[in-house]
Amino acid sequence: MSLPADWYHDPGIFARERGAVFGREWQLIGPESAFAHPGDYLASEIVGWRVFVIRDREGTLRGFHNVCRHRASPILDDGRGHCETLRCRYHGWVYDTAGALRRLPDFGEVSFDKAAYGLFPIRVETWRGLVFVNLDAAAGPLVPSLGELVELVAPYPIEDFAFVREEVFDIACNWKTYTDNFVEGYHIPGIHAGLNAAIDFKRFSTEGRNRIVIMRAPQRDGSIYGGVWLWCYPNMTLSVFPDGMNTSRIVPVDRRRARLVYNFYFRDASPEAMARHQRTIDVNCAIVREDFGICESAQGNLEAGVFENGPLSPLQERGVRYFHELLRRSLAEDSFALAGSGGPA
Ligand SMILES: [Fe+2]
Repeated sequence: MSLPADWYHDPGIFARERGAVFGREWQLIGPESAFAHPGDYLASEIVGWRVFVIRDREGTLRGFHNVCRHRASPILDDGRGHCETLRCRYHGWVYDTAGALRRLPDFGEVSFDKAAYGLFPIRVETWRGLVFVNLDAAAGPLVPSLGELVELVAPYPIEDFAFVREEVFDIACNWKTYTDNFVEGYHIPGIHAGLNAAIDFKRFSTEGRNRIVIMRAPQRDGSIYGGVWLWCYPNMTLSVFPDGMNTSRIVPVDRRRARLVYNFYFRDASPEAMARHQRTIDVNCAIVREDFGICESAQGNLEAGVFENGPLSPLQERGVRYFHELLRRSLAEDSFALAGSGGPA
């Protein structure tokens, strides 16, 4: 059976997911090419936690909470940019690119230890040209958390693909309503007529194991659609096309809204190749949008109180079941940790 309907809108479940999943798991932040030079940064938000990654003066990638130690203002606006020093625009406190507090203009006498007021660090690791952060100082290393993604992507030269475009979509449903949709191909005949015509749906396969859901469909001749779609717990996707890939993050905004951040990469990013790539991007984005109506109206029904849960197909919805299993495990481990520490259960 699928998850109980209230898991898709309950504020208590959302708060637990925020802590147990997004506060603990590695999160893709963007391409390493965004940090080509010292001072290059990328700022983003993970379920209410504003964070950024910057290449410091020595060339090291560093991650921080995007929170000034003075009065909690964000230091950087979301998105990419470049800066020599990090200056909070609220009251002008200045940090260096390694996060140390350097100057407090017009503050008056400083009667505290400036060294104790550096930016709050977060963990950063890189895998094959993609940069990830983790808010949990005690989390394990990145690569084991990617599970079988590492082997599955090994044949593709993804670090040689050039980042070309970011597309952001806002969807009015819980992040799991969209994730459930992403990890099954069962809805392709009903929702994606164009994609359905391009693949052999009878041979669509879904497997869930080692933190990954793998979906494969043989392509009919001449299709520009990729043949393999990968989802990695908790909220990253990676789809390989013949000459590039896209990655996405399914980011919860609140219990009823999510944001999808797609990045497109291609092997050949020359101007001549870009017209062809534009078509691939357009087709991909159109397929993404085709799911929005059905996910948003299903969300309404999940909230309406009629539906409790429903049976999952053993053939088509193994990915949905696997996602739910991993999520239940995260929340159960968290309850255990809270109980063990004497904190609120
Ligand atoms: Fe879909």
